[in-house]
Amino acid sequence: MNFWKQFRPGFTILAPMEGVTDIAFRQVIAKAARPDIFYTEFTNVNSYTSEKGRHNALERFKIEEEERPIIPQIWGTRPNMFLETAQALKQMGFPAVDINMGCPDRHVVATGGGSGLIRTPELAKEIIHTTKLAGVPVSIKTRLGYTHVDEWRDWLATILQESPAALTVHLRTKKEMSKVPAHYELIPDIIKLKQQISPETVLIINGDIEKPSDAQEYIRMGVDGIMIGRGVFHNPFCFEKSPRSHSREELIDLMSYHLDLYEKYGLSPYDPLKHFYKIYINNFPGASEIRERLMQTKSILEARAIINQL
Ligand SMILES: Cc1cc2nc3c(=O)[nH]c(=O)nc-3n(C[C@H](O)[C@H](O)[C@H](O)COP(=O)(O)O)c2cc1C
Repeated sequence: MNFWKQFRPGFTILAPMEGVTDIAFRQVIAKAARPDIFYTEFTNVNSYTSEKGRHNALERFKIEEEERPIIPQIWGTRPNMFLETAQALKQMGFPAVDINMGCPDRHVVATGGGSGLIRTPELAKEIIHTTKLAGVPVSIKTRLGYTHVDEWRDWLATILQESPAALTVHLRTKKEMSKVPAHYELIPDIIKLKQQISPETVLIINGDIEKPSDAQEYIRMGVDGIMIGRGVFHNPFCFEKSPRSHSREELIDLMSYHLDLYEKYGLSPYDPLKHFYKIYINNFPGASEIRERLMQTKSILEARAIINQL
């Protein structure tokens, strides 16, 4: 059975976010209100296929049962390395594999990977074709184009010609980064193109969606799924089926759970964890003062001492 076909129209995904959606934060979201599908952060196929990098790659593919279904996302430029990694991921029990063709990070683009692949469509096609030989459903996450929005038709057609199991479109170009509003006006034409070239491909949209109900209009038009990234920073409960407001205590409990998980998995260093505090300590009287105190902390122990007083 194709993994992607089990989900009803309007299914939800927590977007892969490097340095954010690690094993700890995915479990925080699973506890708050889970999406239908999780993704791992992206992992370089060079790293999995090299003796030196394999240990690190395997750490990034570590998951817990409550995160399933979860799809590992991989990136790179060498088709044979994609195949080797996808075969291993299948062996590990992952139900599908996603390829990143949208990352705008300059270090990634300099290698030709991520959104760099938009400029080498033949290589992108070869990567999809070769990865599929692993016998797992292969999906692609990409942007509309590299420089100009009107590249979208040729680029998405190129991908669709390889009949990926699913295609996630972040409705911006590489050049636009996340600086302009996502191009939702293109959705009807993107649906049409997909229906013409690869009707079986599951279509997922991404970019600026804060909660699933924001995108219902597009589901009615023929989009299959919704992917939310930064929306979880504003509301970690955004995947709730029946949205309700959440008390200060619930948010603090969630932060405490995050601290426990960060410790449990031996994640380090401490400072990046502080970026998450504004998710939990927000929208109540005195929140900004508490956040300031939390920013001065140097360990989980110190942070816990502050929230325990609340
Ligand atoms: C901090 C950060 C890290 C990201 N890392 C990845 C990644 O590893 N793989 C990927 O495909 N996209 C990555 N993205 C892009 C997001 O998945 C998503 O496409 C983008 O944030 C737009 O969706 P949003 O408006 O819902 O956040 C990242 C975005 C952010 C903000």
